[in-house]
Amino acid sequence: MRTLRALVAAALLCLVPAVSAHAAADVTYDFEDGTTQGWGPRGGGVSVAVTTDAAHGGTGSLLTTGRTATWHGASISAPFVRGVGYTVTAYARLVSGLPSSTIALTVQRTPTGGDTTYERVAAATVTDGGWVRLSGNYLFTAESAGVQLYAESSDATSDFYLDDIVITPLGDPTREPISSDFEDGTAQDWTPRAAAALEPSTAAAHAGSRALAVSGRSASWDGPALNVLGRMAKGDKYALSVWVRLGPDTASGRLGLSIERRSGGTTSYERVVSPKDVPAGEWVRLSGTYTLAYDVDFLSLYVESDSGTFPFYLDDFSMTYVQPKPIQTDIPALKDKVPFVMGSAFTRPDTLGVHGELLARHFNGVTPGNELKWDATEPREGEFTFTDGDYLVDFATRHGMKIRGHTLAWHSQTPDWVFQNAGKELLLKRLETHVRTLVTRYKGKIAAWDVVNEVIDENQPDGLRRSKWYEIAGLDFIRTAFRVAHEADPDAKLFINDYNTEFPRKREALYALVKRLKDEGVPIDGVGHQLHLNIEHPPASSVEATIERFATLGVDQQVTELDVSIYTDFVSSYDTIPPELLVQQGHRYKELFDVFRRQAAKLSSVTVWGESDDVSWLRSWPIPRLNAPLLFDDELQAKAAYWGVVDPSRLAPLARRLAAPAGTPKVDGKRDLEWDLLPDSPVARVGDVSAGFQARSSAKGLYLLAEVTDPTVGKDDRVTFTVDGTPYVVGRGGGPSGGATGGQHGGKAAVRPTATGYRVEALVGTGTDVNVTVHDSSGEAVWNGKVTPAPAVKLTSAAHRTPALDGVVDRAWSAAPEIRTGTWIQGTSGATAKVRSLWNGSTLYVLAQVADPALSEESPNPWEQDSVEIFVDPGNGKTKGYEDDDGQYRVSFSGRVTVGGTFDAGGVKDHVKAAAKTVPGGYVVEAAIDLPTITLAPGTLLGFDVQVNDATGTARTSAVTWNDSTGRAYLDTSHWGVLRLARG
Ligand code: XIL
Repeated sequence: MRTLRALVAAALLCLVPAVSAHAAADVTYDFEDGTTQGWGPRGGGVSVAVTTDAAHGGTGSLLTTGRTATWHGASISAPFVRGVGYTVTAYARLVSGLPSSTIALTVQRTPTGGDTTYERVAAATVTDGGWVRLSGNYLFTAESAGVQLYAESSDATSDFYLDDIVITPLGDPTREPISSDFEDGTAQDWTPRAAAALEPSTAAAHAGSRALAVSGRSASWDGPALNVLGRMAKGDKYALSVWVRLGPDTASGRLGLSIERRSGGTTSYERVVSPKDVPAGEWVRLSGTYTLAYDVDFLSLYVESDSGTFPFYLDDFSMTYVQPKPIQTDIPALKDKVPFVMGSAFTRPDTLGVHGELLARHFNGVTPGNELKWDATEPREGEFTFTDGDYLVDFATRHGMKIRGHTLAWHSQTPDWVFQNAGKELLLKRLETHVRTLVTRYKGKIAAWDVVNEVIDENQPDGLRRSKWYEIAGLDFIRTAFRVAHEADPDAKLFINDYNTEFPRKREALYALVKRLKDEGVPIDGVGHQLHLNIEHPPASSVEATIERFATLGVDQQVTELDVSIYTDFVSSYDTIPPELLVQQGHRYKELFDVFRRQAAKLSSVTVWGESDDVSWLRSWPIPRLNAPLLFDDELQAKAAYWGVVDPSRLAPLARRLAAPAGTPKVDGKRDLEWDLLPDSPVARVGDVSAGFQARSSAKGLYLLAEVTDPTVGKDDRVTFTVDGTPYVVGRGGGPSGGATGGQHGGKAAVRPTATGYRVEALVGTGTDVNVTVHDSSGEAVWNGKVTPAPAVKLTSAAHRTPALDGVVDRAWSAAPEIRTGTWIQGTSGATAKVRSLWNGSTLYVLAQVADPALSEESPNPWEQDSVEIFVDPGNGKTKGYEDDDGQYRVSFSGRVTVGGTFDAGGVKDHVKAAAKTVPGGYVVEAAIDLPTITLAPGTLLGFDVQVNDATGTARTSAVTWNDSTGRAYLDTSHWGVLRLARG
């Protein structure tokens, strides 16, 4: 029960009374402390005082005397919150010798813009003979001022006692939903953060006929805010949703939903929904969940833009308490099922309620997600803040969890002051102070530190990221950070941490750096592999190759930030996640944990980046979208991903899919060029055996390829292809045409040894349900799924010549074959191009002669201007998303160049030069694309495609490509054609 003192404190802190901090619990007035507990006289000449002449409970009660009117009595400013129901009970008794009368508890209030009302809450006939109980319910809904609860009597002059007045909220306000629809023509408690004007308006409405128009904003953060202090309880989770639309004359803008909270004088801002694109004329929903993790004395949510002060509309807001499901206690703890420390990233909210229970049950390792980063620990020089860090470290220590400290030096989440006016000496001094302070503070508590984070950029000639750290201090910032960390806590394990270490180029760049620094004597204990992966890529085998590679350096290794995004690109977004994707994710986690278990001697821990999907950073990065990359779902229940780790036999079987392009490769075991047009699909390793698999379709049947990795020859070694139920068995034993085949359709097969195993090629009967099982005495690697025919992958070649880059078609081009765009992805006719390619050194040259009589650059979007797009994938990886060096190079008819790639196209954006010239009936584009990540040589295969965009005015009216028919070439490299570099 809450006492009056707490109530008064809450009332003072409450800045906007409409939704206040009161009444989350009972409020009781018992008059035992000798004060009137806030009650005062109502009416002239009335007095109220505490007395011990009578008491219902304890020794004191409140006596009211001097009344001369029925409405005279005792009153208090009432702790009622609009929209919340209450039960009010009280005990009353008359002073001895007075005749009986009716005593009533009444509420007086004045609704905004209306007349003062008087509402009776409870009443009873009261005598001087004993205490009488008054009880009733009360609720008000209109915004009101001057809310008073008072006791009065039907007898204008009787004196009475009151005692044990209890106000009990019927619904806990932190459990009550809040909604705003603006249909009543008011702003419904929304207030401007600064200068913004909020006006209920009929100019737009998401539903009904009104929305809240927001205009006159003074800054990106200025706009509508709703005070929710007292409406959220610490540790509880709330679902928030609001619809927004751009205001008049606004072409584009990004809007998001944020929270401002203050705790003990410190203001913090948190994003619930990161600003997202709001296309003109459309209502866009901002929705997300928020868990209040702090004691607060100010709490407000608001809509803001990421930049600009454009007007917008807001409608149909709702906030609802999310009742937590209990965590499952009948499933094994992850930490009991793996042979290494099982960690999770965590932040403060993750330690509360069911999140805290889940964390404690499944994980014996933790990494503070943000709280030990530089911006959190030393926001201003020499001003260290460890409130959150200490809290998390204490939580982990109490639960016996191993703690990873993340991170001491990083280019991100580092305040600007660190680099301000800093030469090398000053920067290293600041670094030294920072590292020493953190590592010393947590000496003996934090077992491992990510000393430096993400210092590799494999696209730089020396493999090192051009961060401010590097630009000012070179490698010395890494050396200093490790040295000082080691001095501060010689027992802490010191790590270099990075992402994409499973990709060969980055792997090698990191390897070279670690080797170099270790050779110098820099105290590096281990390498951290973040492993932010996606559902398709890269295969578990590249993770395994990375672990094996670093093991040769004799360093410890940890998986530090594992998650598996359900998206393969940086743009797509589901409203609901297809269930089969979650099954696929379960199998993906299984394959990864197969690797981790196999490599357990080299791995001291595996940490997932978040305990459950609801807290994943991938809900806001690289764009706000529904993602589900972790082992437990939004309600903290075990996903297929969890079973993939703990007990894969519980996973639903996975039906994979593979396209079989038209083709007739020779069945001789020699791997025709045709097979190289696509990468092999991985058949994940089991025991010592793994494989890559492909198919081609033809009228003669299905051509199948298995590249088996199996270093030791054994009598069980064989591959079984089962097509629509018919098995074809091919033993390893044969020579060039050897091996046994089976199945009633006969078929043809060839086997050849390779450096790491053997290759099987076969022609079998046509079918779609395919099982590939690779047998070995140590296990069976299996691929199972549907193979569907597809058009042949187009192949062309580039001649070895150098053209002049001037928009004039010189003679060099005639050495290359010409291809034409003919695959319509928008419309069925329009501009097309004849295309040729040349190469020399590290440069690819592309010529496009475009037939397009009417040219336009009117659209602000470059893909809606008359333009040519050239797609190049140096590794011909045919991945569903872009890898770092995959590029989309766009040249408009006027020579304007735009580039697409991974989310910032960082690896490719400076690699293209172009010239363009208009000619009668069209234009000519020449582009030179530098490909520094591979060595170009005769026979090199590049993923390659060309697209022509045809604009009319501001719209794109057609688009045509050479090979890719999906219309997704800008997101997905897997349907591009192939360009082969020729010798001459
Ligand atoms: C992420 C956090 O999880 C987010 O809350 C924050 O907004 C951005 O940083 N690699 C890292 C981590 O090393 O520090 C990042 O963590 C995720 C990528």
